[in-house]
Amino acid sequence: MPRGLFITFEGIDGAGKSSHLATFEQWLRARGHDVVLTREPGGSELAEALRELILHRPMDALTETLLVFAARRDHLQTTIEPALARGATVLCDRFTDATFAYQGGGRGFDLDVLRTLEGWVHPGRQPDLTFWFDLDPAVAAERRAAARAPDRFERQDAAFFARVRDGYAARAAQSPARFVRIAADGELAAVWARVERAATERLG
Ligand code: TYD
Repeated sequence: MPRGLFITFEGIDGAGKSSHLATFEQWLRARGHDVVLTREPGGSELAEALRELILHRPMDALTETLLVFAARRDHLQTTIEPALARGATVLCDRFTDATFAYQGGGRGFDLDVLRTLEGWVHPGRQPDLTFWFDLDPAVAAERRAAARAPDRFERQDAAFFARVRDGYAARAAQSPARFVRIAADGELAAVWARVERAATERLG
């Protein structure tokens, strides 16, 4: 049974990861990958419905965490696992590292509970490679201000995003072989060049 590659993009809001996702998808296709581009929260019909609630309805951190993992469970079962099983490359905009960064770091939610939920929802499944777009939260806030209407997360203050960044740094330190840190400052083309260099090293 062929087994596909599972690649994720992560970073604080405004770090620019979404801009590079489409370029990276083309890069992979040019190298013969059968790419499934997807995102979290979302990526399946049920998970997309949950995304609307997660991004726009007020709720406490536990409810938010349970909904994020519920969406992930459905996304894995209906989209990610079948794609990997047929040998596709799954390129996912955020995954469980975002939960550790946003709910764990940002909201201060119990990391032991997150680890337990992670073990229930995707035992034995982790991304093969994670690009972490790392940017100073102050610069990311300027980029967000120039973009569109903010959701519940994008409205958070600088201290929240500093904690989210620390959350990503902690996750990266725990899995250094899986994480590639991309310095996300500077022009789009310069950041893409960093992504391409790292991707060439890792994927050939
Ligand atoms: P985002 O990738 O920023 O979507 P868009 O580019 O369309 O704004 O993701 C939406 C938000 O969801 C983002 O602010 C982070 C948040 N989020 C969590 O809080 N926990 C999670 O586990 C995930 C996957 C996302």
